[in-house]
Formats: sequence, C-alpha cells, structure tokens
Amino acid sequence: MTETVDRGETVQHDKADGHSQTATPAAPRRGADYVPTFGDSPEGTDVWQRVPYDPDDYGPVSDYRTDFDHAAPEYNPVAPEIWKELRESGCPVAHSDRYGGMWVPITHETVNEVAYDTENFTSRSVVVSVGRPGDLALPAPIGGVPPITSDPPFHGMARRLLLPAFAPKKIEPWEPEIRQLCNDLLDRMGDIVPGETVIDAAVQYAQHIPVNVIGRMLGFPSEDEDLFRRFVHDALERITEEPGTREGMEDLGNYIRAQIDDHRANPRDDLTSYLLDVEIEGTPVSDEVVGGMIVLLLIAGIDTTWSAIGSSLWHLAQHPEDHQRLLDDPDVMTFALEEFLRAYAPVTMARLVAKDNDFHGCPMKQDDWVLLPFPAANRDPAKFDDPDTFIVDREENRHAAFGLGIHRCLGSNLARLELKVAIEEFIARFPRFELAGDVRWSVGQIRGPRELPVRILDAAD
Ligand code: HEM
Repeated sequence: MTETVDRGETVQHDKADGHSQTATPAAPRRGADYVPTFGDSPEGTDVWQRVPYDPDDYGPVSDYRTDFDHAAPEYNPVAPEIWKELRESGCPVAHSDRYGGMWVPITHETVNEVAYDTENFTSRSVVVSVGRPGDLALPAPIGGVPPITSDPPFHGMARRLLLPAFAPKKIEPWEPEIRQLCNDLLDRMGDIVPGETVIDAAVQYAQHIPVNVIGRMLGFPSEDEDLFRRFVHDALERITEEPGTREGMEDLGNYIRAQIDDHRANPRDDLTSYLLDVEIEGTPVSDEVVGGMIVLLLIAGIDTTWSAIGSSLWHLAQHPEDHQRLLDDPDVMTFALEEFLRAYAPVTMARLVAKDNDFHGCPMKQDDWVLLPFPAANRDPAKFDDPDTFIVDREENRHAAFGLGIHRCLGSNLARLELKVAIEEFIARFPRFELAGDVRWSVGQIRGPRELPVRILDAAD
C-alpha cells in the first residue's frame, strides 16, 4: 500500500508488520556530511507516517495488552487501574499497532531500562503522534526541541546550557511572586459563600500558574498566555491529526521568531536574552536551537505543573483527612509534595526505537514508538510498598515523576516550588472543600484534570 507524507512523496508499506519497506526519495540529500539517523525513513520529509492512522479504523480499545492507546478518552481517568491490570495479567510490556506501532513498558524495571538505554532508544521525538520526524527535521543528536529531543553527545551540551537557569538559587527568589500570583487568582474568584460556591480549581486556578511563571521568566507578555496554552494543546493532545495540520504550532514558531528578534534588538534580564547569549565551546547557539529550547520550556513547563497542581487538589477534595493533616502540621508538606508527585505523576514521555532489538522478548523494530509511562513505574509494587495508597507522610519515596536517566527533568526545582506554593495558598484560603461534579481529564501523555469543580465549605477571611 502507499501513503502520503508531507510534500507529497509516497512511501511503500508492508501492512503485515506495519514497517516501511521502501521509501521513495523525492528530494536530494542534505550536505555530504549529513548522516541520516534512520536508515529507512523517507528522505526529503519533515514528517512521515508509517501507516495512515485513523482512530476510527480501530474503534475503542479492545485490550490494553495488545491495543494500547494512551489517547483513548477513557485512558487518563482510569490509567492507574489499567497499569495494575496489565501488571497483574503478567504483561510488563504492552503493544499497539496504533500510531504506526508502539510498545509500552509498564513496570519500574522496564521503564527504567528504556530510559537509560540511549543506544537502542532515541529521544528524537518524545511525543507519540501519527508523524515521525523525517530527514529534513532537525536531525539527531540535536532534534527539534533540545535537550529533550537530543541524544548524546549533544544532549549533555544543550542540557548544561539550561541547567544554571533552573538551579535552586535562581528559582528560590521566584517564591514571593508565585505566592502573589496564587493569591491574585484566589481573590479573582469573588465572594465565596461557604457550602454553596462552586469554583473550578483547574480552570480558575491551576492552569494559570505555570504558564504565567514560565512566560515571565522568558520575558514574554502575560496577555499571550492563551497562545501558549493553545500551542501546548496542539502539540500534546492533537496527536492523531495529519502531520502539518496543527496550526497552533506554526503560530508559535512565528511568535518565538519575533520574540528572538526583539530580544536581540533589546536585550534584557530574562531567560530568552540569557539563551541568546550562551555559547557551546565558544560558538554562539543558532536561533533555531534557541527557538527549540524556548518551545521546550513552554511545553515542559505548562501542562506538567498545571496537571500536578490539579491532581493534588483533586486528591485533597476527596481526602479531608490528608487536607487536615497539612493544615495541622505544615511540615508534612515536604513529604506530601513527593507523594503527590509519585501518586499523580503527570508526565509520560516517549522514545523511538533506534535499531532493531529484542526487549524482554519483544521484537522491537527501528522507528517503533516506545511510550515511557513514568507514572506507571511509580505505581509498581515491586518498587513501592502499597503503591496505590496515598500516604501523606511516606518517607521512602524515590519516585520517577521527573523521569529517569539523562533526560531527568531540569525544571524540577521550579515545578516543586510552584506545586508547593499553589497547594499551600489554596488550602490556606479554603480550609475545607469537596468535589462538586464531574472531572474532565486531559487526553494523551500529560495526565491531569482540565475541569475540576469543587465546592468551598470553608473560606478564610
Ligand atoms: C510537575 C511538573 C513536572 C514534571 C512531572 C516533569 C517531568 C519531566 C520528565 C518525566 C522529564 C523527562 C523526559 C524524558 O525522559 O524524555 C522532564 C524533562 C524536562 N523537563 Fe520537566 N517536568 C515538570 C515541570 C517542568 C518545568 C516547570 C520545567 C521548566 C520550565 C521543565 C523542564 C524540563 C526540561 C527542559 C526537560 C528536558 C531535560 C533533558 O532532556 O535533559 N519541567 N520533565
């Protein structure tokens, strides 16, 4: 069968195993020194599809062991139960033909193994979608949004550029501003009648905090926050749509180019100017790479913490005993924070198989997707005692919410600060609240409530 890739080239398929057999090169190779990472991906493409994917052809998931779909609308609301069932049915690695072929390790051991194996698994694309990056996309080891899409050795260089900006001494001074922001959002909820007023803790609160903070750090105007959220939605949730149709991503590309130009002309004391100034081994970093890093900070910094704040408040709305413990004993927050992150870890990332390999008996083929559900690793009884119970003061808690291996989250200081301050301010203002209706969960790799109605039962003056 044939399929169309963007720019109109065609690719031949063997439908039997879903793997591309021949690619028709329609454009000349890049320069002589250009080394393609994927031997059999079609040349001359930014994005290519292995098998045309339409979720309607597959219908609802029949069996998560063999037909896994993290973008099925019912997946995120009940994901912990699905991981448990898979583990208990003796399936440490699930599979799916969707998205052109995808594997899903479920146990802590298998997730950890893939995350550390940068030889067999590339980070060139970390969001599963119908399109894989083609030869004209910024190639490995750099990738489109470094360092998350970078492989060694470039990964280490790109990561070292960003690390100083997220070190504790750079992040701690943001605390008063974040507290002020949370209080402004709480003030904006207007008059509260305890026992009656219902607010949406995701829409009116959680979603605004990380986007505002990362926007300010980058030196972007706060009125552009909707654009960033739309972009993140396009990048992370519209994954089954034809490559090249997610116009929010293009808008953001233009926006960031304009910001880079403006920051070059008028340097200031912010993260964008800092990135325009850094060098790798004495060479300035190209605008393409700086733009990619900014895109990454927006993707990595928005949905993730928004989801973590939302899930934590969702938990507290249903567990007044944990809420009360935090009010009575604020020092417990140190442990509670890690337990929120473990139990409700929001981030699943992905890899592409770099070369054929046998993984625990699974015949992985080059260009297959591998989903890395760090949240599932956090619920593995082989790693955590009683993993499905939230223990507010759990002491032993080496969770994987921020990832494992070389790509471990470099925004974790900021994420922890935002999460802590957001919860502290919310429970101080509303010492009692309860769930007041249906929760709407996100779709796809970042898991968290997008609508979270809560009834305020008690409000501080
Ligand atoms: C609760 C909130 C957050 C969670 C749970 C989280 C989780 C993660 C995870 C699991 C990874 C590893 C990805 C992989 O292995 O492919 C990662 C990487 C990353 N995160 Fe976060 N993140 C959060 C917030 C943030 C924030 C606020 C920022 C910065 C604004 C950020 C910046 C990054 C960056 C730059 C990377 C790539 C690091 C690398 O490739 O070396 N994250 N994050």
